[in-house]
Order: sequence, then C-alpha cells, then structure tokens
Amino acid sequence: MENKVAVVTGASSGIGKAIAQSLQSEGYQLVLNGRTCQEHYDTSPNLVINNKDLLDEKTPGQLLAHCLDNFGKCDYLFVNAGTLATGTIEEIDIDKVCQMARLKVESSYRLIYTFLKEFKKQGTGHIFITSSILGTKVRETAGAYAGCNYALEALAEALRMELSPTDIQITCLEPGLVSTGLHRDWEIQPAELLNITNTLTPEDIADAVKEIISKPSHIRIPRYMILPKGHRI
Ligand SMILES: NC(=O)c1ccc[n+]([C@@H]2O[C@H](COP(=O)([O-])OP(=O)(O)OC[C@H]3O[C@@H](n4cnc5c(N)ncnc54)[C@H](OP(=O)(O)O)[C@@H]3O)[C@@H](O)[C@H]2O)c1
Repeated sequence: MENKVAVVTGASSGIGKAIAQSLQSEGYQLVLNGRTCQEHYDTSPNLVINNKDLLDEKTPGQLLAHCLDNFGKCDYLFVNAGTLATGTIEEIDIDKVCQMARLKVESSYRLIYTFLKEFKKQGTGHIFITSSILGTKVRETAGAYAGCNYALEALAEALRMELSPTDIQITCLEPGLVSTGLHRDWEIQPAELLNITNTLTPEDIADAVKEIISKPSHIRIPRYMILPKGHRI
C-alpha cells in the first residue's frame, strides 16, 4: 500500500487519539497535534508530534509544513480538537465559551482553508470534521456548543458543493455521547444524567472513519451521524 499521510488534531485524548492509533496500526504516516501529545506516543520515523496550542494562528500552517517537509504530501486532515462549555445563564463561564468558539470555529476554519489550498494543488485530499449530534440540533444550556458545531456544518456544506467536481472530500462526523475526557469537569457524568448504559467509545468513531475511507472513490459521505443506544435527543 502506498503510504498515506494524515494530520489529526486533538490526538492526545478521546476521539482524536483513537483515530490516530487506528491509522497508525494501518501504517499511516502521521502528524499529530495536542498540547500533551508527547506523553501518549513513542517516537517513530512515521510520526511527527506538534504540541502547539491551536489557538496560536501559526499552528495550522506549521502542521501543513510538517506534512510536506517530512512526508511530501497530506491525504487526510482530521479537524477534531475541541472543548465543551455549557451551563445555564447564571452559571456559564463566558470566557470558556469564547475560548471554545476560538478553538472549535476559528482554529478549525483556519486549518480547513490552509489544508484545502494544498489539497487543491494536489488535486486530492479528505477532510474529516468532528462535529456532533449537537451540530444538527440544540438543547438547553448547550446553545453555544451547538452553535460552534453548526458553524462547522455550514462551512462543510458550502465546501462540499464547491468541491463536488473534484477528488477532494469533506465529511462531518456527528457523534452522540462518546466516553472521552470532554466531560472531565462534570460532577455527574452525562451517561448517568442521560441514563445511557453503553455510550459510544472513541474506537467506535475510529471504526466509522475506517468505513468511510474504505468506500469507492466516487462515493461522497458529507455527514455521518452515530449515536449510542438509548440516546434520547
Ligand atoms: N465526547 C463526546 O461525547 C463528543 C460528542 C460529539 C462530538 N465531540 C467532539 O469531538 C471532538 C474531540 O473531543 P473528545 O470528546 O475526544 O474530547 P477530549 O478527550 O477532551 O479531547 C479533546 C482534545 O482537544 C485537544 N485540545 C483542547 N484544547 C486545545 C488547544 N487549545 N490546542 C490544541 N489542542 C487542544 C486536547 O489536547 P490537549 O489538551 O493535549 O491540548 C484533546 O486532545 C471535540 O471537537 C468534541 O466537540 C465529542
């Protein structure tokens, strides 16, 4: 198999880590981002770790440069890093909301356009965006988080149309509840609040990615919703 090259953000935890490990086991050459990424991977000639904050506007360009300098191309970009700021009007932390929006929207838009300009030159490439079920609907206390995911969905839909005659693809992953570090600050975990016995695992999302990648090249999968049993949303 010709070596495939992928960039994964949020690769130090949860969904991004599972995707990175799954691709690594398939022999991909990887550029991984996450401020604590170094703690999670052994060094390898097929692996470049970038531990820069995605809120730094230089980071997306550095990730592309790592790919081109080390591996000569990029086949897949996983726009995945994120945080979650929810709460009632009385309780919500507006600074955390704005930081979430900068990470999930601003840095994601910068990543997507930075890589698409290269994908246009290459003529190929596939962008996966980890949106959410809350990129398709809202719930009380999560309007800002849903709004960030809606912003990703809107960009992806416009780009899908712009890219439709090309060999460049864009897919929004729309998971329901996945057991990751995203809710690490919650006193009661969402599985308990929502009464879900078996949440999705990060590996379930990595398997969905594998399935999408394995499709024949004429097929486009713009959106992929995946929910655990019992997720009433
Ligand atoms: N878990 C769910 O139920 C669920 C459902 C639907 C969608 N999602 C989405 O899935 C994506 C991944 O989340 P997860 O559930 O896997 O959560 P997670 O385990 O908390 O992972 C979040 C990742 O984002 C990275 N990150 C956070 N702030 C960063 C920053 N400023 N710069 C660079 N990296 C940063 C973290 O790395 P460092 O801390 O090392 O920087 C970490 O690797 C998110 O976009 C989330 O919205 C999650």
